[in-house]
Order: sequence, then C-alpha cells, then structure tokens
Amino acid sequence: MNRISRRIGAIAESATLAVDAKAKALKAAGEDVVGFGAGEPDFPTPAHVVEAAIAACGDPKNHRYTPVAGLPELREAVAVKTKRDSGFDCAAGQVLITNGGKQAVYNTFAALLDPGDEVIVPAPYWTTYPEAIALAGGVAVEVLADIASGFRVTLDQLDRAVTERTKALLFVSPSNPTGAVYSQAEIEAIGWWAVERGIWVVTDEIYEHLTYGDHEFTSMPVVVPDIAERCVILNGVAKTYAMTGWRVGWMIGPNDVIAAATNLQSHATSNVANVSQRAALAAVSGDLGAVAEMRAAFGRRGRKMHELLSTIPGVTNLEPQGAFYCFPSFEGVLGRPIGGRTPESSLALADVVLSEAKVAFVPGEAFGAPGYGRFAFALGEHDLIEGISRLAMLLS
Ligand SMILES: Cc1ncc(COP(=O)(O)O)c(C=O)c1O
Repeated sequence: MNRISRRIGAIAESATLAVDAKAKALKAAGEDVVGFGAGEPDFPTPAHVVEAAIAACGDPKNHRYTPVAGLPELREAVAVKTKRDSGFDCAAGQVLITNGGKQAVYNTFAALLDPGDEVIVPAPYWTTYPEAIALAGGVAVEVLADIASGFRVTLDQLDRAVTERTKALLFVSPSNPTGAVYSQAEIEAIGWWAVERGIWVVTDEIYEHLTYGDHEFTSMPVVVPDIAERCVILNGVAKTYAMTGWRVGWMIGPNDVIAAATNLQSHATSNVANVSQRAALAAVSGDLGAVAEMRAAFGRRGRKMHELLSTIPGVTNLEPQGAFYCFPSFEGVLGRPIGGRTPESSLALADVVLSEAKVAFVPGEAFGAPGYGRFAFALGEHDLIEGISRLAMLLS
C-alpha cells in the first residue's frame, strides 16, 4: 500500500511558488537575485484596509466562528461591487467567500465534476487549474494557443477539443501567465459557443482591473446572459488590492452550486478568518483609487519589460494587455550554448539563468507551454531593468 494516496501523490508542487521560494532562499543567502517569479503586487495593502483589520482584531465578535459562506455584509458587498465593476447582477446568496481565489477554484471543480468529466483548459494556463480539476476527479483537456495566435483560443480549437464528456470550459481574461485580454466580441462568441453546447463556463476574473492601453475587461455572463445559469465566476482581493497574504477570494454562481460548495467548505475550512474578511469588506466597499495607481505603474512596467525583452536576439514577446506578466518565447535561444551549458528546454534555461545571471523566472513547462517563460512585472522599475539587462547580457 502507498504511504501517500495516488490522488495526492500525483499533485505537482506549485512551480510558481517553488521558483519564488528558490529565489528568496538565494537572496537570504546573500545572493543578489532579481525575482520575476511571484505573481503578487509589490505594493502594500491600502492603509484604510489595514486599519479596518486592526479594528476588527479588537472586536470579540470576530474571535468566533462565523457563517461558512462568509460574513453576510461581505457577501452583500461583493454582490454590489460585482455589479459596479463588471455589470453582473447577482444576489448576496450567490456569493461564497473562500480562502483566496485558489479555494474558489478548487471548490468549483469539486462541486461540478464527476470522475472522468472533462474540462477544456486553454494553455498556457495558470498552473493550479489542471491540478484542481484532477483533484476533483476530472480530466483537463488542454488547448494550446501559442504566441502566434496572441495566446487566445479560437472556436475551431474549442470545437476540436469538445467530446460528450465535456462538462466545462475554463476561461480567464486577463490571463495569467500570458497577459492576453480577449475582446468583447471574442468573449461573446465563446460564451454563445458554450451556451449552444450546454457546457459550463468557469470564468476567472481576478485580474479584472488590470488592463492596459485600449484593452478592456469584459465579464462573459454580462455579455452572454444565457450562460449565467451554467457559469461560475472566480475572483478575490489579492491582485486588485495588493492583498495576496490576506487570503480572501470568492466564487459567484447559481444557488445549487454555491450550496454544494458551501457544504464542502463547511468540512474543509469553515469560515475565512474574520479579520481578513473585515479587511476585504473595507477593500471592496472602498473606491478604486489605489487600484488606479497600481494599474498605472504596472502599465509602465509592462511596456518597459516588453521593450527590453524585445531587444534580446532569439526572444519573442508580446506587449502585455493585462494582468502583470510577460510570457516571452525562448525558442530562438534554446539549443545554443549559454553560460557553459546548452539548455534544450525552458526548464533548463530557467536553471542556467538563475545560476549564471541570478534572475528567476518561471519556465513555460509549469503552464503547459514549454519553450516560454513567465516574467511577473510586479517589482520596482530599477530591479526590472537590472534583471532583464542581466538576462540580455547572458543570452546575447
Ligand atoms: C488567474 C489566477 N486566478 C486565481 C488566483 C488566486 O489568487 P489567490 O488565491 O491569491 O486569491 C491567481 C493567483 O495567482 C491567479 O493568477
């Protein structure tokens, strides 16, 4: 008998967290590492949010268990905020507050999937989706949209991936790891495609406020209302309010899905920490001033990173349209001698770049896209320029 179950033993370590941990360990050992690994804003959480949490610590009612699905006032505030920000109408009862967006992802697939049910997952994908699908007994069916297609899947590709076992489509725009943003017309077409086939859509809106230039966020169930009865929206405070460490996310869906996911959560984790929920309440009910500042800074950094990456021979990059990632292709540099080695994969390249240039990025293998690398531009401009310059020196 195995000591560790097959189901859990099959889970891969989160590559993004692993790269970040390695970079942080090297830094702690005195190495001058520039880390592009972590997908988290470098800004502090807005002061009014922190103050709400401090006040919450002193209030004994926050020292007790609260309803599993979340503080009623936070569920209500999320419903109001969703209408304000994306235009989607929902009741507070359709909101389940989770331990970060990650638990919302897991809850959703656990609530929807039976063993063998397939979920179409456009690649490059955020590394957690296929693991959460597998944990729920489902099968992730990857559809690769490469750099030539702007990292956006087409209806033809979706048609080729669909089978009688297809239960859901995973959709995310703006995307981690590619920074791609689908147009409203593309989102409408994909939404209607799913409606016509009776396929669920799990749509991850966590980067809704981080779009640049002319690119705009569109919520699928707003432009395709008919999908709402088979749609789950994932979101959270992590990226919008620089609150990755507070662990507050949510899922919004039809009542039966929310009831099922709440039952699951009642046995897994119960309510999210009340102090964090109070902080999230201050965040989502406040204005979007802090977000606007972060968006402006990320927009500048994304353009800068794109400009620098594009000058490196053999590296191809698209200007990020949203989120805070560049996802360059390294096909043109693989198989060439670099730093005394000849990396044949982006995984090997990431290792050479970390040891020779002290620059950490996450190899594309972690996102179902070998040959690429993910660079988060959630770090200060000075470090960003330093890190990409070192990469350029090593690769040139
Ligand atoms: C696309 C996407 N969805 C959801 C999350 C979940 O974020 P958290 O669990 O920190 O709320 C992340 C975090 O990296 C993400 O990139």
